[in-house]
Amino acid sequence: MNKTQKAFNFAGKSGMYDGVITGTGFFGSLVSNLVWKMDKEKDLEYQRLAKKGVPKDFDGSLLEVPVGTGILTMPMYKKLPNADVTCLDYSEGMMNRAKDRAQDMNIKNISFVQGDVGKLPFKDESFDFVLSMNGLHVFPDKDAAFSEIFRVLKKGGVFCGCTYIEGECKRTDWFINKIYVPKGYFNLPFDTKESLEKRLKGMYGEVEVETVISEACFKCVK
Ligand SMILES: C[S@@+](CC[C@H](N)C(=O)[O-])C[C@H]1O[C@@H](n2cnc3c(N)ncnc32)[C@H](O)[C@@H]1O
Repeated sequence: MNKTQKAFNFAGKSGMYDGVITGTGFFGSLVSNLVWKMDKEKDLEYQRLAKKGVPKDFDGSLLEVPVGTGILTMPMYKKLPNADVTCLDYSEGMMNRAKDRAQDMNIKNISFVQGDVGKLPFKDESFDFVLSMNGLHVFPDKDAAFSEIFRVLKKGGVFCGCTYIEGECKRTDWFINKIYVPKGYFNLPFDTKESLEKRLKGMYGEVEVETVISEACFKCVK
């Protein structure tokens, strides 16, 4: 198991992850304010922008990578009973929480696959939609992740989500480089807003990128 898998297995099993990613609870809101310079409103804003490309009545095939504990997406899947949802992550500790959450919410149209985004176990053009929230700054091999996501997306399909970008807030960048990277929660190198836009425009036909401080939210059409 590598450093990132170990870090997220611990985060998932310990139960600390959900508060931190949603900026809720004492520790979660402290991290959100101190590290990300975000309040509740900004937290909700980036989460909304990251998912805004998913149609309210979506009924196609959707891949979420990485699903983590599913805290940010299970409520949305609950409202998409006709979608065919596949969730992938390589940390068992995180994904077991997502599975439990889906079961507790009685979500039936969902399956879970443990795997590596750099080697997705799906055929070319398998999905109408790929959603990736807070993952691209974590994946150790970013080029492989971007190219695998592109490969499994159908022509005309949509790729949307959010990722950390460097260069927007010095305080955030400091915490990321001094704490998150050494612990394995984030992996270098990081995109800036400009490099992310350039990368996505080099691959996709239509690209929109909006930022909430150091979170870039994107929607791309293949
Ligand atoms: C910050 S969490 C994001 C989870 C979720 N999307 C969210 O926003 O709450 C990052 C996740 O990426 C997963 N991960 C890291 N590297 C991966 C890889 N190469 N393939 C698949 N999942 C990976 C971790 O296990 C972790 O669950």
